[in-house]
Amino acid sequence: MENKKYANMLIMPELDSAEKRLFPFDILSVLRKEAPVRYDRTRNCWDVFAYGDVHRVLKDSRTFSSVRGAAAGQNLLFMDPPKHTQLRDLVNKAFTPKAIQELAPRIQSIAEQLLDQVTGEEMDIVSDFATPLPVIVISELLGAPKEDRAHFKRWSDILVESAEDVSDEAFQKITEKRMGAMQELTLYFKSILELRAKQPQDDLISALLKAEINGEKLTERDLIGFCILLLAAGNETTTNLITNGVRIVTEQPSIHSELNLSPETIPSFIEEVLRYYPPIVAIGRIATENTEIGSQTVQAGDQIIIWVGAANWDESKFTDPDKFDLHRKPNPHLSFGFGIHFCLGAPLARLEGKIALQALLDRYNEIKLQTDQPLIPIPSSFVFGVKNYPITFVQ
Ligand code: HEM
Repeated sequence: MENKKYANMLIMPELDSAEKRLFPFDILSVLRKEAPVRYDRTRNCWDVFAYGDVHRVLKDSRTFSSVRGAAAGQNLLFMDPPKHTQLRDLVNKAFTPKAIQELAPRIQSIAEQLLDQVTGEEMDIVSDFATPLPVIVISELLGAPKEDRAHFKRWSDILVESAEDVSDEAFQKITEKRMGAMQELTLYFKSILELRAKQPQDDLISALLKAEINGEKLTERDLIGFCILLLAAGNETTTNLITNGVRIVTEQPSIHSELNLSPETIPSFIEEVLRYYPPIVAIGRIATENTEIGSQTVQAGDQIIIWVGAANWDESKFTDPDKFDLHRKPNPHLSFGFGIHFCLGAPLARLEGKIALQALLDRYNEIKLQTDQPLIPIPSSFVFGVKNYPITFVQ
């Protein structure tokens, strides 16, 4: 069993309370200014905060490897070239922006159906809307039966959870939980793959079974790893993008009014939500050789955590980074990563985000946060979002 402590499974000491994790950006900005690259002994890793350094680490995939604690199994995210290139080219064949764009009418109708089920003048954005939407989209895309969606949600939650604290017991507990979910998922996808191999359908799993490059097909292991990755990488991130977008319109009502007047600004709104409240705030790498980052010397084998949540608020790259600017252009945020591992699901996430926010704004006015219950941040140091976002609205 994997028992090495990987820093991206542990909470950074500066973000050790719920309150801090509900809004970590000021803390991250202070860290960036005081020590743009620093070693944290409690987590045994380097933290990199400045835009230029974060960008460079993402870009230089030879010096900064992605092969690390495969907590979510053997998949693209944890591979280096040449295996990564080969696998990514294969899955790209089935996961094209065109194939994604064709999903728009279906995503729209799922969004409308979810909102139709809301009665009264209040709802919890997370559980009523932002969670089911991507889970339904991914399970339909993969071709998984409808009755399995609740399992999908449970599995994807476990795959992105962090340890409760830095103790060995907490780490052991989360590792065991993840291994359990991985085993269940592997068996689950194995059975679906067998069914589709016998009887192909019009779904992603059938397309992946067919995809080949130079006569090479995906192995069963890679196929299962990829399906699991889609759940782990695509669900909670998209839930958080939608919820973080609603959070902005409630925190800054002038943005809501502007969106109502100019709905064509929704795509640029989504980009700015991605920059300002990134669903993934930190990404891990391992140094493959001794190298310098900023003024620090990193040794081969060191763990490096790069902070997208700090880079996106770096004033050397963005004018007035703490201002939510609906018209920010260009907006070179790093929220989908950069380079060879750039998010494969970015077109899908952007499309879902756009349709979801448009559907909400079309229906509701005066969206307000209900302030009588505390917001609970997601217990992870690399995901930014809340578990609940109760709102009231006027239809
Ligand atoms: C707003 C939502 C999303 C965000 C913020 C996000 C963010 C990211 C980031 C930062 C990476 C790069 C990680 C690294 O460099 O180690 C990544 C990779 C990836 N994402 Fe996303 N993601 C989102 C949605 C999705 C969706 C909807 C899917 C698929 C259904 C998806 C599938 C993937 C895959 C397969 C990779 C691995 C690509 C590779 O290693 O070559 N993501 N994502």
